[in-house]
Amino acid sequence: MSLTLPTIPLPNSQVDPGDFSEEEIEAEAIRLQGAIQQLHRWPIEACRTIAPLTLEINRLKEERDVFLIAHSYQTPDIIYGVADEVADSYTLSKAARDAPQMTILFSSVRFMAETAKIVSPHKTVIHPSPEAGCSLSDGITAQDVRDLKTQYPGVPVACYINTTAAVKAECDVSVTSSNYLRICERLPGDRLIFVPDRFMGAHLQKSLEGRKEVIVFDGECEVHATFTGEKVRHWRKQIGEEVSVLAHPECGADVLEEADFVGSSEKLINEAVRLGSLNRPNVMLITECGTAERVLAETDSELNLFGACVMCRHMKATQLEDILQALKEPRADQIIEIDQEIIARAQRNLEEMFRLAE
Ligand code: 13P
Ligand code: SF4
Repeated sequence: MSLTLPTIPLPNSQVDPGDFSEEEIEAEAIRLQGAIQQLHRWPIEACRTIAPLTLEINRLKEERDVFLIAHSYQTPDIIYGVADEVADSYTLSKAARDAPQMTILFSSVRFMAETAKIVSPHKTVIHPSPEAGCSLSDGITAQDVRDLKTQYPGVPVACYINTTAAVKAECDVSVTSSNYLRICERLPGDRLIFVPDRFMGAHLQKSLEGRKEVIVFDGECEVHATFTGEKVRHWRKQIGEEVSVLAHPECGADVLEEADFVGSSEKLINEAVRLGSLNRPNVMLITECGTAERVLAETDSELNLFGACVMCRHMKATQLEDILQALKEPRADQIIEIDQEIIARAQRNLEEMFRLAE
């Protein structure tokens, strides 16, 4: 039951080599293939095809002093070709806040680019794919949060970072997959409202059992909701030998019960790499496919990856061509604009996250 990765993203039209010489393109293709570390899926011809794009994006980035951030679920050509920082959502929000550059290009889904704007409102934040949403952030409105606050007055509200700026503005603190347990534990009182992920909320309720009651909204991640405990047990049986199951906390409780390790995208990657170095090569990754692509690129060990990764259509909406276009001449809808009053309130929420997470 080996893990099957999605088809590789190649440009939609013929790529113009521009001013780059054949030697420069060849050297870039070799660099890309060496970094991606998937010799069969990413043959040198494919790397040659995208090389003029990565060369041009890197040239423009330098010329215009742009910091390019990419989430781990972006494709390897973006991650290893052009990104300056790749990580999970918590680390990326800090990277956006701390980058000295005045322009950030955020290759990911909309709520992450909005978060970058909230933590650094004086910077220009470019988001190449304005249509790239997220089933969690699109499934809850600011009014939903206001209604919950009316229903449960005085109860602190924690929101998953996968929410719009308007929703963050209504909540006391944001949390991410790498710190939700720690932050929610530290909130005052014996009750809290958690929005919008019902699976993460259930996991939180389980770990706070006897200490806090968690009032949960009913959103879910369309990617992680597709996994079930039954599927994991079935794959385990098919493998027939010892395997470590690594799952993201956006998965349902039945999946997390089967997991040996639960963590953010970055923590899952580190754990898979660590298991490989301990000579425990059988790893089942229960998450989005980008995690497996990063593990393959970043391990020196022979790993056998099992299970079935699921692709996030929103995360995969961005291609190198979109990044190049947005860098050259961003359209108005590719520049993040948020109402000043919302920024101020959402900023307090994120500052509280940084304070409680550290
Ligand atoms: P993390 O990278 O923080 O684990 O988030 C996963 C995710 O689904 C982002 O949309
Ligand atoms: Fe949203 Fe899930 Fe896609 Fe992450 S993987 S962006 S949570 S839909």
